[in-house]
Amino acid sequence: MNITIIGTGNMARGIASRFVSGGHDLTLVGRNPETTGALVKDLEQLRAGTKVTTQTLGETIQDEVVVLAVPYGAGLELAQSLGGQLDGKIVVDMANALNSTFSGLVTEPGTSAAETLAAALPRGAKVVKAFNTIFAGTLPAGNVAGQPLDVFIAGDDESANEVVAGLAKDGGLNPVKVGGLVRARELEAMLMLGIAAQQPLGYGFNSAWRLVGPA
Ligand SMILES: NC(=O)c1ccc[n+]([C@@H]2O[C@H](COP(=O)([O-])OP(=O)(O)OC[C@H]3O[C@@H](n4cnc5c(N)ncnc54)[C@H](OP(=O)(O)O)[C@@H]3O)[C@@H](O)[C@H]2O)c1
Repeated sequence: MNITIIGTGNMARGIASRFVSGGHDLTLVGRNPETTGALVKDLEQLRAGTKVTTQTLGETIQDEVVVLAVPYGAGLELAQSLGGQLDGKIVVDMANALNSTFSGLVTEPGTSAAETLAAALPRGAKVVKAFNTIFAGTLPAGNVAGQPLDVFIAGDDESANEVVAGLAKDGGLNPVKVGGLVRARELEAMLMLGIAAQQPLGYGFNSAWRLVGPA
């Protein structure tokens, strides 16, 4: 599958590396040609035969899956500027609406960044919350201490959730579907809790959430 990723920062790099490892091709949409070019080069070296194309914001998006790897506010801006283009597509949202000191979320109680994004997009856009509980630095390896990363997935369109779960699995990750988009509220809070635990545990953002089942 060819997947479009908007953004070329830390999360874009990490998720792109998982998708490429899983045998997928990419279209990267970046604002800075140098950063984008460097990322393309690194990704193409990751797996022989990988096809990574680039395009600029505003060009027609061809792919069925569009990953927003941009800050929360930028995602809302893109919903306005690209809205019509995202109608009918699977839109993967990983945003955590952190405040300026990373000590809390700016999202109002009783909603989530993902639900706010969905409300700003055309009704046909299938928003899937995924990857937001994972620290960017753990994605290139795809595991922590030998344990594949859990990718918690929430969305109202089950077939879209399944597509995202398949992409995570292809990339060596462990998809965990947790229900409708309303569950993004807890997933975003989970990330906040994960951040709060880093300093006391001294994990340096190299840890991961893992849901362990019975033997
Ligand atoms: N970092 C983490 O560990 C982590 C973990 C879970 C979730 N997240 C979420 O993942 C998302 C990306 O985070 P990140 O750490 O990858 O951030 P980042 O490294 O700062 O990268 C952000 C990317 O978004 C682009 N961007 C910013 N504003 C934009 C706009 N208005 N229009 C288009 N592109 C724009 C930036 O482009 P320029 O380079 O041109 O500025 C950059 O490519 C955020 O929503 C964050 O909450 C991050």
